[in-house]
Amino acid sequence: MRVLILGVDGYIGWPLALRLIQRGHEVYGADSFFTRRRVREVGSDSLIPIKSMQERIEHLKKRFSSTVNFFRGDVSNASFIYRLVEEIRPDAVVHLAEQRSAPYSMIDLKHATVTMEKNIISTLSLIYAAKDIRPDMHILKLGTMGEYGTPNVEIPEGFFEVEYRGRKDVLPFPRNASSWYHWSKVHDSNNLMFANRVWGLSVTDVMQGVVYGTRTADIQDRSEFTRFDIDEVWGTALNRFCAQAVGGLPITPYGKGGQTRGFLSLEDSITCLTIGLEKPPERGEYRVLNQFDQYYSINELALTVREVYAKEFGGNAEIMHVDNPRVEKEEHFYKPVSEKLRKMGYSPSGDLKHDLKTILTDVERYRQRVDKLKKVIMPRTQWK
Ligand SMILES: NC(=O)c1ccc[n+]([C@@H]2O[C@H](COP(=O)([O-])OP(=O)(O)OC[C@H]3O[C@@H](n4cnc5c(N)ncnc54)[C@H](O)[C@@H]3O)[C@@H](O)[C@H]2O)c1
Repeated sequence: MRVLILGVDGYIGWPLALRLIQRGHEVYGADSFFTRRRVREVGSDSLIPIKSMQERIEHLKKRFSSTVNFFRGDVSNASFIYRLVEEIRPDAVVHLAEQRSAPYSMIDLKHATVTMEKNIISTLSLIYAAKDIRPDMHILKLGTMGEYGTPNVEIPEGFFEVEYRGRKDVLPFPRNASSWYHWSKVHDSNNLMFANRVWGLSVTDVMQGVVYGTRTADIQDRSEFTRFDIDEVWGTALNRFCAQAVGGLPITPYGKGGQTRGFLSLEDSITCLTIGLEKPPERGEYRVLNQFDQYYSINELALTVREVYAKEFGGNAEIMHVDNPRVEKEEHFYKPVSEKLRKMGYSPSGDLKHDLKTILTDVERYRQRVDKLKKVIMPRTQWK
């Protein structure tokens, strides 16, 4: 299959490229290096050093006889997207190329605007390029479980049957996001759903939980490492907790720590995306997949990091709750459904404690870089 990965230089895009090349797909990739630049903008860097795209391409040529055919550019630029689709004529496009940090989007109006513009316009441009040039290609778009928020009822996969004043219908499940970033993903989902309805585009909209991990089965040496962010803007809670444990800092859940979210390992994320590509939707179908393995509260994550770090590395990390910079429920019901991927043949391999041992080993290896980045871990970006 000829696959174009938008955001191929990113945390998920790069290991996905490795997996698809190994499986014999023809892989094309695009990136503007937005994340590399924006992480530096907040005084941070990937904790795990990553190679330049040129080095990555050369490395793949040596390890496999195939590599990523790379195009540098901004996918919110319509003429760039049109050129890619025209030249490559992909069977499928995986769209990962978005600003993906909730705190970054909450810094101020400028950052909220960049998030909205880049994210919504990139998806809209891709939709139009598909309609005008290749209407039968499959768009696999990464949304987020965060689009749904934390309702006090079960979260279905995209749609639910509702009865109101004696009448029934199947409707999109309400989205209730908690940052400008998450709202930008909601707007993307609405736009994809509408494009499917009016033009019959084939879309998989993946509502993905928080991805953790430093490795997949394909990442064998340092040339293949993917980025791993630990700062308050770009690093997710589990990444920050691991860095705090290794750096001798307290592990800091925000607020009461009862916030619960769906999580999945990087390995499982790549497996799911590969299944989604290799088992595409029917022509003209809009399908929503909820993708996570387990849900954990932030307190459970903090305790598990502390436990694994103590058992495997003899460390003694303290847990210290800090004021929550975000506006969110700190104790709530959470029960999302994730059935469709399992029906498509997926079974999760992630095991948090086992995976944490690998993550902490990789973070330990770059302990000196943890020391350098310590100053950017504690929260500064306020929602209020
Ligand atoms: N990592 C997670 O836990 C997670 C969870 C849910 C959803 N997602 C979604 O998955 C996607 C990928 O996430 P990630 O963690 O790999 O993020 P990432 O920031 O590491 O990767 C995104 C890549 O896209 C590139 N990019 C961003 N905007 C671009 C643009 N306008 N033009 C060209 N390239 C651009 C970046 O430079 C980066 O290489 C994002 O859309 C994110 O919202 C991620």
